[in-house]
Amino acid sequence: MSTATDPTGNLDLPTYPAARSSRCPLHLPSEYEQWRLGDGLQKVRLWNGETAWVVTRYEDVKLVLSDQRISADTIRYPRMHPGAEQMQVPAFPRMDDPEHARIRLMMTKDFTVKRVEAMRPQVRTLVDRFIDEMTSKGDAADLVEAFALPMPSLVISLLLGVPYEDHEFFQKHSITINQPDVTPQEKSQASAELFGFLMELVQRKQREPGDDLISRLIAERVETGELKPEEVAMNGLVLLIAGHETTANMIGLGTLTLLEHPEQAAVVRDSDDPKVVANAIEELLRYLSIAQDMIWRAAHEDLVIGDQEVKAGDILAVNLPAANHDPSFMDDAGSLDVTRSARGHIAFGYGIHQCLGQNLARVELTESLPRLLRRLPRLRLAVPLEEVPFRGTMAAFGVHELPVTW
Ligand code: HEM
Repeated sequence: MSTATDPTGNLDLPTYPAARSSRCPLHLPSEYEQWRLGDGLQKVRLWNGETAWVVTRYEDVKLVLSDQRISADTIRYPRMHPGAEQMQVPAFPRMDDPEHARIRLMMTKDFTVKRVEAMRPQVRTLVDRFIDEMTSKGDAADLVEAFALPMPSLVISLLLGVPYEDHEFFQKHSITINQPDVTPQEKSQASAELFGFLMELVQRKQREPGDDLISRLIAERVETGELKPEEVAMNGLVLLIAGHETTANMIGLGTLTLLEHPEQAAVVRDSDDPKVVANAIEELLRYLSIAQDMIWRAAHEDLVIGDQEVKAGDILAVNLPAANHDPSFMDDAGSLDVTRSARGHIAFGYGIHQCLGQNLARVELTESLPRLLRRLPRLRLAVPLEEVPFRGTMAAFGVHELPVTW
């Protein structure tokens, strides 16, 4: 078990998130199983030297994410988000109900199954366009740069009405915001610049509205006095970051995982039944559980979770990968089996903060992965697996680059 000494409390605690084995990077760190089997909750040391309780068992995670005594508003603990207190406008994922629900409900209609299914033909066209562009340049590429990142970035840009020519700017800043080992100053600088960019966009759309989510929020909510322009900008910022980073990582890592499991890839590639493909994507979501270090909560009262006494003000790190690999939820959970039902997985979270964009992510994934495998039947890694740079401790697990050839 990895340990580190806390300079403030002389505690000798495991560090979190734990490191994955470089030989089996797709497997979860072995500590997660030990913690799940241990008594109570595991206390860990975070990147900033602070301590937190890690919640790893499937049932405990669901309880934490649905208990109203536990808050998503970790911003009020500045040690958890250094620099974030300077942000004047709160983001709804870090709010509790009823305020969270009030804002979230203004956007749910843009992400219903019906709404995003209507975007499927457009997503399919974009998937083909990026594959065409990639293959027109030769027979090898970095799949992240050529496909996994630009495709969802363009989809969310179109939906929000963000000019796609600014994608390098917002992609770079999103990475900084989600990276654990950058300074608080760098993080708040990146957040402030992205917020400024969205604020300018909102002002432009107030003058020249388009057919997009930001223009709709302005027309329906700013003009009625329900939202301030800066709140629209913050909602745009949340959706822009959440809408491309996670899906991009899931496409990159999902492709790599299928290349490492050719018999499972064959199911995704060869089936013409959309239900079989959709089922396979759910199992990939469960197996990979890429939201490895982004679910934080704070106890607002003293309480007991998983036989552990937790004090008001304690921070909880909700470990979705460990929960989705809990044998009490899924037999043989450490294996990938795209033919089984992963129903009940919590890769998109659970409770009131469950992913707002999950239906969109599903459309993007069910279009991307089979299409890549069908159009490029000889798709394979261009380097040994050990040379693929993994996003070890990033908030969302994935690969920085995926060198492939076909
Ligand atoms: C495979 C891709 C994705 C994964 C694995 C994922 C995962 C998650 C998870 C685990 C949460 C819960 C956070 C929490 O409880 O604190 C979440 C929330 C959220 N996601 Fe996603 N997400 C994905 C794609 C997307 C997309 C495409 C969008 C936007 C279009 C999006 C927008 C959001 C938003 C706005 C929230 C906050 C919801 C709230 O607090 O009410 N996500 N996501």
